[in-house]
Amino acid sequence: MKSIGVFDSGVGGLTVVKELIRQLPHENIVYFGDTARVPYGIKSKETVVRFSIENILFLLKHDIKLICVACNTVSSVALPVIKNHFKVPIVGVISAGVREAVYATQNKRIGVIGTKGTIRSRTYELEIKELDPRVKVTAVACPLFVPFVEEGWLSGDVVLTVARTYLKPLKQAGVDTVILGCTHYPLLKPVIKEVLGKNVTLIDSAQQVAIEVKKILAAEGQLSNVRKARHRFYVSDNPEWFSGLAKRFLGRQIKEAHKVNNV
Ligand code: DGL
Repeated sequence: MKSIGVFDSGVGGLTVVKELIRQLPHENIVYFGDTARVPYGIKSKETVVRFSIENILFLLKHDIKLICVACNTVSSVALPVIKNHFKVPIVGVISAGVREAVYATQNKRIGVIGTKGTIRSRTYELEIKELDPRVKVTAVACPLFVPFVEEGWLSGDVVLTVARTYLKPLKQAGVDTVILGCTHYPLLKPVIKEVLGKNVTLIDSAQQVAIEVKKILAAEGQLSNVRKARHRFYVSDNPEWFSGLAKRFLGRQIKEAHKVNNV
């Protein structure tokens, strides 16, 4: 039975896997986390494109029917380039989140938060404007959020102070909808909510991309009905570190992560 291939710069893409498993419990999944080369959020476009192509070539060795790019940085800086290189459908996390945000906003003011690479690419902004040119977008990079989540600092004074500083421009702009444009940010939802207030809608791209993957597979008659789906995890370094963090992102322990050397 074919599998859905998912890749990310590291462990964060497991937030997307969590949603895929929730919404598509009968699908086999092969995950690759590029833990040897993480983070991608501060790297150049050329480097992210090269790493992404290598990651896809690795996944394609596993009888893959669709590739889901869980990483927001890859989806925003590299996806348009890499999509043309492969026949297999490749789905990124940007468009689904953008559609949901444009649908959700009442006052036409949307905030976007992500890594430096994601924000610098302006991909979210351009896709939002393409859907609705009247929307005012305020985009802010929040580089400290990734290490906070990986260190398990999901609440407390330090995170709250940093979040208040980063999110100030969004508050000043009066956004009513914010796209969590990074794999790690769904874990900081409570802090972000506390800073922005409960009336601001947070868009979780992980949830949205799982809906999109399901739609594509259904349209292609490729949905699986295996009773016991297999979930396999590969990393380019530090499988123990990955497995240790997996529970936080996936909501459950993984059996094992395999280290691969050929990426
Ligand atoms: N996975 C990345 C993203 O969603 C965050 C971690 C990194 O910078 O590689 O943008």
